[in-house]
Amino acid sequence: MKMHRFEEIWLVIGVGVLILSMVVTGYQTFAMEMGPPSNMETIDPQKVDETAPFDEPGVYKTGENEYEVVMTLQIFSFTPNNIEVPVGSKVTFTMTSKDVIHGFQIAGTNANAMVVPGHIQKITETFNEPGEYLVLCNEYCGAGHQAMATTITVK
Ligand code: CUA
Repeated sequence: MKMHRFEEIWLVIGVGVLILSMVVTGYQTFAMEMGPPSNMETIDPQKVDETAPFDEPGVYKTGENEYEVVMTLQIFSFTPNNIEVPVGSKVTFTMTSKDVIHGFQIAGTNANAMVVPGHIQKITETFNEPGEYLVLCNEYCGAGHQAMATTITVK
């Protein structure tokens, strides 16, 4: 098969860009741990209120500067809401939904997760700057979706 010179050049550039983008994405995901949160535990979405730890949502101290927030999401709120943690806290959010798919995004940070009924989502964020962090639901979940928000106060 005879190929035109420019055809060869473009083929090389195309394959090169493809391989480069896979290498960059792979490096970010595995070396820099920038992949999306992907916790595999499941839960019966009908029995969230009776299933530990979601029978007692709240903020728990788990170590020096370490906290776990056990959180349920439901139309159209986060439980617990108005969370407060000290500056420098490493906070793991353990979350599930009691009804439909919700989102959990902390504005101004990289924390962003989808919270799907039947699954337990975990995401960890360290808060080094004091302030009020807005938490938003970023998955359309119904008529009150735009009002589904809360804050995390770091001080
Ligand atoms: Cu919950 Cu949108």
